[in-house]
Amino acid sequence: MTSLDLTGRKALVTGAAQGLGEGMAQALARAGATVAVADVQDDLGGKVAASLGEGHTFVHLDVTDDAGWESAIGTAAERLGGLDIVVNNAGVEITSLIVDVDPEQAKRMLEVNVLGTTLGIKHAFRTMRPGGVAGDGGVVINTASVAATIAFPGISVYSATKSAIDRLTRVAAMESGKLGYGVRVNCIYPGLTPTPMGVGLANDMASLGIFESTEAAVAGVVALTPSGRLGEVADMADAVVFLASDASRFVNGAGLPVDGGMGM
Ligand SMILES: NC(=O)c1ccc[n+]([C@@H]2O[C@H](COP(=O)([O-])OP(=O)(O)OC[C@H]3O[C@@H](n4cnc5c(N)ncnc54)[C@H](O)[C@@H]3O)[C@@H](O)[C@H]2O)c1
Repeated sequence: MTSLDLTGRKALVTGAAQGLGEGMAQALARAGATVAVADVQDDLGGKVAASLGEGHTFVHLDVTDDAGWESAIGTAAERLGGLDIVVNNAGVEITSLIVDVDPEQAKRMLEVNVLGTTLGIKHAFRTMRPGGVAGDGGVVINTASVAATIAFPGISVYSATKSAIDRLTRVAAMESGKLGYGVRVNCIYPGLTPTPMGVGLANDMASLGIFESTEAAVAGVVALTPSGRLGEVADMADAVVFLASDASRFVNGAGLPVDGGMGM
């Protein structure tokens, strides 16, 4: 057994019906974990859980809903027979220049990205700390973005929410340590990856006139990336497996760039 092996571990991944979350759920399952796919998209989420095989499950979860979290995480822990890993991946991105920011869209991003991740940490702690229904400790992995480490036009509020996730991660790791929860908390900063969100962002960059075309937007990002390409879902998923596993046992309160060097 390597220290990346997750056999016997139980994981919940939010926003796992598509995109990066789907890839994270697949990679965790391949590493041996049993996975609860959590999302607002019941049809797609159910299909992803079924595709992982027997023992894996889908739970409906709107990450902005505190009571929904309590119910979904309880159901997941009961069906899986415990909980060791929570991946707060669900997020939304709505592109806008600051001069055109729509308050409702800004609030939506703050709600899903910041409140949703905060509630995910809250309920992960309550479940995995001593006395919780899965009280042997565990791991929380949050999904920030390269947007938290660079200044890119058109994604001001989104970038602010991702910087907030970075800071939430540090405070959460400190609280967990000080209060003896036994839960490590880290985050990743994915680079631009062509999921539905990533493709939408590249299209928006062209629509806003920041780049001449979608292709020029992609080329612009690649030009800023030492590794010379966009991200792939598997790049992010493998980083999550590392942070979920004992291979990262002394990594805590950290943010791991998985961006080919774009944000250095
Ligand atoms: N794709 C990229 O280029 C990129 C880069 C950096 C960071 N990220 C971050 O990675 C995460 C995943 O992004 P993605 O590209 O897979 O996006 P995506 O839009 O393809 O998928 C997001 C998933 O989150 C779910 N979701 C949205 N709101 C939710 C809510 N309130 N409750 C539960 N689920 C909800 C959606 O249903 C969807 O399944 C996000 O946090 C995003 O900000 C993405």
